[in-house]
Amino acid sequence: MTYVIAEPCVDIKDKACLDVCPVDCIYEGNRSLYIQPDECIDCHACEPACPVEAIFPADELPDEWAHYTEVNRAFFVETTDIGSPGGAAGVPARQVDHPVVSALPTASRDAVTNQSE
Ligand code: F3S
Ligand code: F3S
Repeated sequence: MTYVIAEPCVDIKDKACLDVCPVDCIYEGNRSLYIQPDECIDCHACEPACPVEAIFPADELPDEWAHYTEVNRAFFVETTDIGSPGGAAGVPARQVDHPVVSALPTASRDAVTNQSE
């Protein structure tokens, strides 16, 4: 099993999860962060740390985000060549995302701003 970062992280990237992961297996993309499934030890520390509830055990993902298990896995071997380096320290943030994340609209926060005017 592994934990998975799902859609609420996109364009938020709070990064509180980075401070609590004991094995440093959370890596940064352009619009989201991703958990390396071969390195995650299922310790659960990240799930309550995320303020937007983006992190789930893979077997508890809401149906609408079930494909994020594959999104997180593929980020390391298809989107990038990060692979499994054994920790995110020293791995620079990548300016790319899995295609599912890249395809998401970015207008939500602009809409909120416009409503307040
Ligand atoms: Fe994203 Fe939540 Fe971590 S917003 S960066 S999964 S704390
Ligand atoms: Fe780290 Fe969360 Fe896994 S804290 S070890 S990514 S469950």
